[in-house]
Amino acid sequence: MSQAFVFPENFLWGTATAAHQVEGNNLGSDSWVLEHVPGTLYAEPSGDACDHYHRYPQDIALLGELGFNTYRFSVEWARIEPEEGEFSQAATLHYRRMLESCHQQGLTPLVTFHHFTSPRWLMAKGGWQSDQTPGYFARYCEWVTRHLGHLIGGAFTLNEANIAALLHHLVGLEAPLEAPWWGAAAKALQTTPDHLAPFQHLHSAKARQTILQAHRLGFQAIKAGPGEFPVGLSLAIQDVQALPGGEERAEALRQEIYQPYFEAVRGDDFLGVQTYSRERVGAQGPAGPEPGAELTQMGYEFYPEALECAIRYAVSQTGLPVLVSENGVATPDDTRRVEYIRRALQGVAHCLRDGLEVQGYTYWSAFDNFEWVFGYRPTFGLIAVNRQTQERMVKPSARWLGSIARANAL
Ligand code: BGC
Repeated sequence: MSQAFVFPENFLWGTATAAHQVEGNNLGSDSWVLEHVPGTLYAEPSGDACDHYHRYPQDIALLGELGFNTYRFSVEWARIEPEEGEFSQAATLHYRRMLESCHQQGLTPLVTFHHFTSPRWLMAKGGWQSDQTPGYFARYCEWVTRHLGHLIGGAFTLNEANIAALLHHLVGLEAPLEAPWWGAAAKALQTTPDHLAPFQHLHSAKARQTILQAHRLGFQAIKAGPGEFPVGLSLAIQDVQALPGGEERAEALRQEIYQPYFEAVRGDDFLGVQTYSRERVGAQGPAGPEPGAELTQMGYEFYPEALECAIRYAVSQTGLPVLVSENGVATPDDTRRVEYIRRALQGVAHCLRDGLEVQGYTYWSAFDNFEWVFGYRPTFGLIAVNRQTQERMVKPSARWLGSIARANAL
């Protein structure tokens, strides 16, 4: 038997969630509206989700019992500032209690300030294409840090700042400006189809500029507040692989979806790397999965080796320490989840052996949860949730990863 690899002391082991995907009934968010308009692209509405908003004490205790030492979750802007300039003390207190629960259970809380969803009122004001948005975001970051900063263990301003660029260039997804559901959503959000700018769905040069400015101002606001913790953002980094003849095209894609963001994180404390699979690129562009390859419930390849490449690429381009803030697989077969994580972690171990600074690994996701337009069909969780009774069912993969976390060795 080969010797176990021992991870560095203080390596962070955990799971990740996002408020909208687990809390339930996030009525004040833009996503809630997008999910409910007639003809929407969303397979189903998020509804009660995992009712994590009310069940977080038991959920966080369970994560601690399983052996993890960190929990990455997001605070919801739409709850904390439900109307422009009106900050909710009650919602802020809710997140304070969550942070305190983490500390009680021995979990370092990693807080994402924005994970895809935004308050409805922000959309009416131009959303992620408005010059005002970075200022609004910084004001919200300032409020959260002032009230909660002393309890935060690490912060992400934005989750996957490049998600819209990635979906546009790699998957060919465009905001459907002419679609009736987009028009209905725009109307419900008090704007027009060409001005509707939700974070995940709209790719444009203006949106990119707004997002990167929001990161810059948010970063400064968080740093100026109480607490001494690292601050960064996360990026979706798929392993872009060139097929013979596709080298130039692959490089052009990398330039579009990663380079401006790598430039924007200079001076940050770390970079969150979020990797799920690879993208094969030929001379004509993205070529899709290799014929015959095992696919996940998301339709892309089961390819855990992507993580090692993504970490190496991110470090070579930014020089920053990285935290694997998301990596995971949607599968109904939990033995394939164990296999995926095992191979992904081997990649992390190779990077560490070579001296790269990888600070932790948070698996996506703690629970089977609301997977955006796909609804509840893809199951990424280490813990299954009965959505009628909200009963939690721990999968073998959760115990397996928890025992690795406890041993700090693979
Ligand atoms: C996002 C999560 C999402 C996950 C799985 C990431 O793009 O940050 O919100 O659920 O991937 O698709």
